[in-house]
Amino acid sequence: MKVSGVDLESIAEEFGTPTYVIDFERVRENYTRLNEALECPHVIAYAYKANHEPELVRMLALMGSGATVPSAYGVMLARWAGVSPDKVVLVGPSPSRYDLEEALRYGALISLESESEASVLEKMGRARVMVRVNTGIEAGAHPSLVTGGKKSKFGLPPRRALMLLKSLRSTMDVEGIHTHIGSQILSIEPFKRAVELIMKLVRDFGEVKVIDMGGGLGIPYLNEEAFPLEEYSDIVCDAASQVGATLFVESGRYIVGDAGYLLTRVNYVKEVGEEKWLLIDAGMNDFLRPALYNAKHRIIAEGNGPKERYLVAGPVCESADVFGEYYLPRLKEGDLIAIGDVGAYGFSMASRYNLRPLPAVVSVDEGRYRLLRERESFGRAIF
Ligand code: LLP
Repeated sequence: MKVSGVDLESIAEEFGTPTYVIDFERVRENYTRLNEALECPHVIAYAYKANHEPELVRMLALMGSGATVPSAYGVMLARWAGVSPDKVVLVGPSPSRYDLEEALRYGALISLESESEASVLEKMGRARVMVRVNTGIEAGAHPSLVTGGKKSKFGLPPRRALMLLKSLRSTMDVEGIHTHIGSQILSIEPFKRAVELIMKLVRDFGEVKVIDMGGGLGIPYLNEEAFPLEEYSDIVCDAASQVGATLFVESGRYIVGDAGYLLTRVNYVKEVGEEKWLLIDAGMNDFLRPALYNAKHRIIAEGNGPKERYLVAGPVCESADVFGEYYLPRLKEGDLIAIGDVGAYGFSMASRYNLRPLPAVVSVDEGRYRLLRERESFGRAIF
């Protein structure tokens, strides 16, 4: 099992399992593909919440990437990585005073999600702001990944957003309009509708410097078609160019998703009735997406002979700690497998649940590997 010329078994032997591996070459390829497709003045404000590994965000910053951050610590990390303030966006449905203060101090662009948030920020000083619009479009691969619609906590409906934008003209530097319609979207339609709606608001408001279309660009996890990048780029770039605005795209998953692997070993194989359980040493605390969204990720396993049906599950004492049904070569205790496409929302959503230390993180790049983050151990951070 090799990634970017590196044998995953040697990483597992040296650092143990479970361990996240990030293929930096793949990240650069993804970033470059997106950057080259966007043929208009733009900023790719990479969404740090997808994967905030410091070396990774620094590499992206060196390539020209901006940052979309959800908190004060995100602002600090972007500053450390060398991202200039004009490329940093702070956005979240309920930022703390501290989050807002740090963003204001650094000169980041703050996307406001309510009138109430705006009035708190007004008291702190004059900031560069946008307003986040809830387009009402319900897009996303799972109900938990949808951010639009009447029942969503995100942003403001278009008319209210417009009123807020107008009212902030005297107290703030109003730079633009923001939306983020959902995550893991593979079709172009929702983006088309969102752009139309945003453009109508832009015309009603007047001039804007920034149109921020958020992230949401999906990746094929199993056999889906790839994201229609050229079509997306045409639509969003046409819109921004029409009004002379800089386009912001806040991709996370598209840049790092397929660059991550979770190395894990088989602890036990257990047959009960019809079922054959492959009990691995990574669990929902290490990788939450299957338990939280029913997400299915590919599993890479080596071996000969016919494939067998397994239910793959982790060590956490929860029935939801199951990765799903897989057909894999025959496996035994100690064998190494890799869960694919875990570069986005993998380590960043890991927890210490079940008194389990956070896993190690290793980068691979041009045939070499390097430890980025040590596995936690008893007494270091886990209590
Ligand atoms: N911008 C904003 C305001 C966001 O809230 C997000 C993600 C992004 C950009 C980046 O979205 P992306 O391009 O990665 O789709 N934990 C879930 C995904 C939650 C996304 C949260 N917001 C998952 O594992 O699928």
